[in-house]
Amino acid sequence: MLLHNLFAAKKPQSTYSVLNTDIHSHFIPGIDDGSKSVEESVALLKQMNSCGFQKIVCTPHVQDEYYRNSRETILPAFDVLQNEVQRCISELELFVAAEYLIDEGFSEHQKQGLLSFGKKKYVLVEFSFFAPFPQYKNRLQDMLMKGYTPVLAHPERYGYWNVQDSVFEEMRMAGIEMQVNIPSLCGYYGSDIRKRAFGLIEKGLITCAGSDVHNQNYMSVLTDGLKQKQIQKFLREAAVMNHTIFAE
Ligand SMILES: [Fe+2]
Repeated sequence: MLLHNLFAAKKPQSTYSVLNTDIHSHFIPGIDDGSKSVEESVALLKQMNSCGFQKIVCTPHVQDEYYRNSRETILPAFDVLQNEVQRCISELELFVAAEYLIDEGFSEHQKQGLLSFGKKKYVLVEFSFFAPFPQYKNRLQDMLMKGYTPVLAHPERYGYWNVQDSVFEEMRMAGIEMQVNIPSLCGYYGSDIRKRAFGLIEKGLITCAGSDVHNQNYMSVLTDGLKQKQIQKFLREAAVMNHTIFAE
């Protein structure tokens, strides 16, 4: 038995099935910089399913400047995709939420009701890559007060905080979850971001992972990444909560 466990522990991970659920993706066609058609989405989602994901949360961008999405644009577009997926990838479950940029318009979206997922009402949020929104702490606090659980997308990608772990430690203490991008771990955004991503994992600051797949390029990075030893190690040791998000 012991010998069996020893070999099982060393076996390379060839899929992402240990994660079960992807909580960050751009598969709803035509409403952001992700997939451009239902056909493209279905082709990508078949690959997501083949590489081990059983549940996918669709999180289109919601931003004042570039992607002026809302419940009104997201929900009908999701229904179209959902119908097609139920018809041709029956074993895959799709959920709808959003990736909200914390900007001037965010509070208005919150008044309308944020698109969240899971029992803890997780809401994926991101910051600008240039500078954080000045009142970001108030916005996050307000979300927590309203019963939402913010999930900060790709903390490894905010260059202005690339040596400031204290910002993320403070967020974790407040109950905010931290989502690493799998493409960051694969090296898609360069070696510095990859190093930062693994550094945050080592410090225990990462609580979940997401694909952030927009198109076939990202998808290929994800599948090729399974051959990397560091990705296999991450999946073997994955101390992330992806698989429990809909089970809590
Ligand atoms: Fe994203």
